[in-house]
Amino acid sequence: MDRLTNEKIISDVKENNDIVAVISEYVNLKQRGRSFLGLCPFHSEKTPSFTVSREKQLFYCFGCGAGGDVLSFIMRIENLTFGPALRLLAERANIKLPELQLSPTGQKQKEERERLYRLNAFAAEFYQKILWETKTGEKAVAYLEARGITRAAAEKFGLGYAPPQWRALVGLLRKKGVALDEAEKAGLVCGGAEGFYDRFRDRLLFPITDPRGQIIGFGGRLLGDGQPKYLNSPETLIYRKNRSLYGLSAAREGIRRQGRVIVVEGYMDVIQAHQQGVDEVVASSGTALTPEQVRLLKRYSDKVFIAYDADAAGEAATIRGLDLLAAAGAEVKVVRLPAGEDPDSLLKKEGAAGFRRYVAESVDLFTFKLAYILENEDVTTPAGKARAAKRVFPILAQVKNEIIREAYLKQTAAAVGISETSIYDQWRIYWYNLRKNKQRLDIKNSQRHTIDITPAHQRQAVALAGEKELLQLERLLLRGCLQEKDFFARIKRTLIEFKFSVPLYESLRQQLMEWDLSGQWPPPASAFPPETRALYVELLAENKMNPLPVDLEGCLKRLRQRQLTDEIRRLQQEVAVSLDEQAEGASPSSLQANLALLNELHKKLREEFPTFSGLT
Ligand code: CTP
Ligand code: MN
Repeated sequence: MDRLTNEKIISDVKENNDIVAVISEYVNLKQRGRSFLGLCPFHSEKTPSFTVSREKQLFYCFGCGAGGDVLSFIMRIENLTFGPALRLLAERANIKLPELQLSPTGQKQKEERERLYRLNAFAAEFYQKILWETKTGEKAVAYLEARGITRAAAEKFGLGYAPPQWRALVGLLRKKGVALDEAEKAGLVCGGAEGFYDRFRDRLLFPITDPRGQIIGFGGRLLGDGQPKYLNSPETLIYRKNRSLYGLSAAREGIRRQGRVIVVEGYMDVIQAHQQGVDEVVASSGTALTPEQVRLLKRYSDKVFIAYDADAAGEAATIRGLDLLAAAGAEVKVVRLPAGEDPDSLLKKEGAAGFRRYVAESVDLFTFKLAYILENEDVTTPAGKARAAKRVFPILAQVKNEIIREAYLKQTAAAVGISETSIYDQWRIYWYNLRKNKQRLDIKNSQRHTIDITPAHQRQAVALAGEKELLQLERLLLRGCLQEKDFFARIKRTLIEFKFSVPLYESLRQQLMEWDLSGQWPPPASAFPPETRALYVELLAENKMNPLPVDLEGCLKRLRQRQLTDEIRRLQQEVAVSLDEQAEGASPSSLQANLALLNELHKKLREEFPTFSGLT
């Protein structure tokens, strides 16, 4: 099917899905003049700033800047990519869709992905055979037994064992005629031109899957003590650690049935839980929840229980993840496990019923934070009481609902052991000072020449997730280019050498570079393949309904600085990892190359931004 047929189908689907009717299924809209108004589903607000225009068939939120056509709305609210969103709307309008055709680059990427999935599946099968059918695997089988994992559970999660040899998988792939550089792209082998060898050796392997159950990577655990305890696949075209949730494909059904999801830390916790029939469990795999994981979780359930071991639950990074989750509108509960236990050990001691009792006694986020503060302050003394109250106030300040806040204030008074009137008095003083400082800050910000047009609540989210700033800057830059041909013409040369960090933005940038500037500007949406078109339309809608004054040069400069510092941080991490791996006998040449590159980047940063000191 050609591009033109695609165009026709897309416009057919759009014409048969009136934007007002579609959005009304999600948002309570009221007519206000020529447009419709409601509470924005993409951020929380009390006064409506979400506008839908029937004439233009566009929506736009003046609060958070979300905007686009009916397709972008569905993509956003259902968390779908272009194709599935189109499918959903086609079904809604009873239109039959032929298989959609991908652009040549999209097609190539898809094939590459499929090759990686196949390689992973092949490797997983190999490792399973080694585990269950060979003498080499016996010690891993014994290890599983000692950890109390049944064969059925181990098989359900596809566990395998990577033998100690350096070239077990490499040898097999060679024999099968598989290109080893492909296997390297899948993260299964290392070494490149210097001689390929297996990444995973003498480790119990946990295949990591996407929500559909396709293997995207592996986690590998040492059978004994040693470092690193886990070795995971590197980031590949199909595996992004901070986007995946271990066990999600197995847990989907359980999550739906139980109407909630329980998040644990580790692979072992997940398998032990599922084995015992607690099957709404997934793992964040050791890190605090990332914004991407939060988005993914929210897609499956609004009710999220966190069951980390006691130490990890109180860590600042964990709390930030939980705040993100709450900010995204999830109901967050924290399960308090006895000191020294994780779900795996607790399940083994007290069984599923015992574990579920702890889940039933979980507390909300505020109660959890309050308890944590109280544990660390001696509230038997007046000074301790004052300190505890002072640490609670910043948390309370984030609670927007006044009724809930009042309940929490009472709870705090009781827990700290002071009277309600006295805590109210102190709270009022705190609140007053906070407001005063904030006003000062707002005035200062508005006086400064600034390209930050994001509303306050979004700025807060930006502070939470640094990467969001990058995203905003890149988005602004694109919007500026589309808004005025002159803008675009002016920075086009700089933009040629630029690479955006958001893949979709990057594709759009490349496509824009190819557009002949002597023609129409902005280009018609049909100039873009479906993957980028939804984004393109969204940006146009934002510009149309809320034009912005953009300081493009400033924007570029900040982006350049961000990219440099991000690249430096990434390399620093890589260097740290390869220093670790040195012990395992990995080649030192890439380490040296990285160190040289780091030096160069630091120099560039100093030259281009002599006054910048944000990197420590
Ligand atoms: N993790 C990791 N890399 C490490 C350590 C941990 O990726 N070097 C991740 C793994 O997903 C692991 C999770 O963090 O499952 C939790 O770590 P930890 O509690 O140390 O491991 P457990 O899974 O509990 O393993 P075990 O019970 O076998 O010690
Ligand atoms: Mn454990």
